Amino acid sequence: MNPIPEAIYNLRGETRYIDDMPEPKNLLEAAVAGVPVARGILKSIDASAALALDPSIRVITAADIPGENQLGQAVPDEPLLVATGTEWGFRGQPYALVLAPTKSLARRAAALVKATYDELKPLLDPREAAREGKLILQPRTQKMGDPVAAFATCATVVSGRVDSGGQEHVYLETQSAIATPVEGGGMRVVSGTQHPTGVQEGVARVLGIPMHKVEVEAPRLGGGFGGKEDQAASWAALAALGARITGRPVKLILSRKDDMRMTGKRHPYTSDFRIGLDTEGRIVAFEADYYQNSGAICDLSPAILSRTLFHAVGAYHVPNVRVTGYMCRTNLPAFTAFRGFGAPQAFFVIEAAIDAAVAKAGLDPTEVRRRNLLAEGDSFHFGMKAENCKAGITFDRLLEKSRWNELHAQIGAFNASHRLEKRGAALIPLCFGVSFTKLLMNQGGALVHVYSDGSVLVSTGAVEMGQQVSRKIARVAAAAFGIDLGLVRVERTSTLAVANTFPTAASTGSDINGMAALAACEEIRARLLGVAAAELGASVAELSIEGGRVMRKGKPTELAWAGLVMKTHNARVDLSAHGFYATPDLVYDNEAERGSPFAYHVYGCAAVTATVDVLRGTYSVDDVWIVHDGGDSIDEAVDLGQIEGAFAQGLGWSLLEDLAFGEDGRLLSDSLSTYKLPDLHFMPSHVEVEFLKGHPNPKAVMKSKAIGEPPLVYGIAGYFAVLDALRAARRDGPGFYDIPLTPEKCLDYLQGKRP
Ligand code: MTE
Ligand code: HPA
Ligand code: MOS
Repeated sequence: MNPIPEAIYNLRGETRYIDDMPEPKNLLEAAVAGVPVARGILKSIDASAALALDPSIRVITAADIPGENQLGQAVPDEPLLVATGTEWGFRGQPYALVLAPTKSLARRAAALVKATYDELKPLLDPREAAREGKLILQPRTQKMGDPVAAFATCATVVSGRVDSGGQEHVYLETQSAIATPVEGGGMRVVSGTQHPTGVQEGVARVLGIPMHKVEVEAPRLGGGFGGKEDQAASWAALAALGARITGRPVKLILSRKDDMRMTGKRHPYTSDFRIGLDTEGRIVAFEADYYQNSGAICDLSPAILSRTLFHAVGAYHVPNVRVTGYMCRTNLPAFTAFRGFGAPQAFFVIEAAIDAAVAKAGLDPTEVRRRNLLAEGDSFHFGMKAENCKAGITFDRLLEKSRWNELHAQIGAFNASHRLEKRGAALIPLCFGVSFTKLLMNQGGALVHVYSDGSVLVSTGAVEMGQQVSRKIARVAAAAFGIDLGLVRVERTSTLAVANTFPTAASTGSDINGMAALAACEEIRARLLGVAAAELGASVAELSIEGGRVMRKGKPTELAWAGLVMKTHNARVDLSAHGFYATPDLVYDNEAERGSPFAYHVYGCAAVTATVDVLRGTYSVDDVWIVHDGGDSIDEAVDLGQIEGAFAQGLGWSLLEDLAFGEDGRLLSDSLSTYKLPDLHFMPSHVEVEFLKGHPNPKAVMKSKAIGEPPLVYGIAGYFAVLDALRAARRDGPGFYDIPLTPEKCLDYLQGKRP
């Protein structure tokens, strides 16, 4: 009796997102008015035209906020609503909340709210921001060895520039919240968030009430992908503000356009690198400066920059390293978490550097990559050592699986006999650190109830957003109790059930919450076995529960699960427990930039082939092979789905998704007609994914490994496969590393223009 996979509800269109839920009585709908230009100082707000539309309309501004008009944590740069007399940060930043009985009326009225302001010249370029000292926090540098001296010894030294664009999350469900006032000045909020406790803190702060008066529930989200880690809080707080002021429930659902214009995306980066090889192709030294376009608000930029620096050398060992990151404040929406969290940007830089270096040295790219791969015990440039390293084994298996050498011969033959089409191939090794880069966030809780009928309910801090963390946690609980999966249900996330949680992010959802759930289950299991031992006249040590039955020395007894639970309940023994987990052995010294910030690393390797149409610049991605180290998977079907989904998003970011801002800071790609997403036809028709088997991970729940984000990096192989095909068409083309590699850029390259 397995529960219906939630994907079936999606397929049938039966999923109820926040906007589909039954509406409370007296509901008001909300819309926001955003500032009209990228940078300015707000002088005054004229709501008269909006109010004239209908007597039911309410317009709320910063002056109406009972608590603090601030959501920023590390840096107080995130007002809930832009206040008059202050400078704002980006075009579309909310300055008024409009309430009306219907969504369409609220949105029409919001469009009629007018701001008077002094316009200032916006700053959009991160390099310019860095030059002007417009940094969110001080630059950060990580260092190992002596790169300056090492470069002097290198046979080949190459430097260059690498750019990568932003990425829109395009979750199915846009930012959504419903806030309902409760007796005694409290607030109940249903929020589409990856971070219910963060929403609770934000609402309490804005309303000026203690957290115990704020209840936040996160139902299963229509996708998050990082976009709802920090950035769901403001929309929930706005709904709560409206509810507090009117005493009525308020629903705020962003339209797709507003969501695209007002909310954060993946950080664009522009970087400079220098790499040095010896005559054998060993990477001796690497230096890079990363200019992170952080946007107008701090948000998660520091944590994302940390992850960039931690992944600066990809899956390789480099003895001499100096990498520096700059969080550049620009007049664009706050860039934020997106699957990979700064690591894909770093991978692109090191892979581009290697690509440039082997081209200059005339070496074989695969051999150079293999030679420099991380090996057991190698030191990362922040002092951590690679343990249980699977870089070599996944790389070698991938060469076998894709028949890499034959493939190259085939591609060579194809290119020799085709003038108008050219094929290319590339591979990329993966090494991704698992744990929040901010140490304190690596903790979580769970609450487990066994009901008297033997059914089990698990609540944790994990938010379900399609990644099937609930299914994994259910499997953990079922295995802990030795019962059928169908007896376990994982409840939606609520701050009432589990307090002081951290976001479901950093791919740690099942690692942390699964462990917390396991701790609670083990506590209850020990109590159950105590009762069973008394009942059977046995010692606890002889007993176990398997297949829903108590076993004594491995042999079935007459005591089945339901009977055991009933007997335990009748004996007045508690059938509920709270569990807690804090990832052990994490240490990091932020001053020295030294330590072991990750519980472990995920390894793997991907190869991709592509064909370019030499006249049109269009291309297709043809094959992908992936060998992925996922430990002992808790649910292989789920992990396979995560790998394919992450790869698709990585491919989209690398090749297709072209986030474009005008010179005035206006988002040009603000709809799905101007922002192209990978679809089924864009995906390679040939996809082969293999899990590395027989390599259990001692560092995570049920010997598994985190899965959510790391495989996104594989998509970068798509970039280099297309580039390889372009070079087959034109050896002397201008060198460039600029994600996304759109057909327009390909055409420029083929025509000898610098894209
Ligand atoms: N998969 C689906 N279907 N929807 C999502 O929103 N988010 C990704 C990944 N996979 C996401 C997803 C991101 S960014 C992360 S960090 C992880 O799932 C979070 O969940 P986990 O920690 O439980 O893997
Ligand atoms: N990954 C994702 N989200 C995060 C992290 C991280 O490392 N740190 C803080 N939020
Ligand atoms: Mo994922 S970007 O850590 O939510």
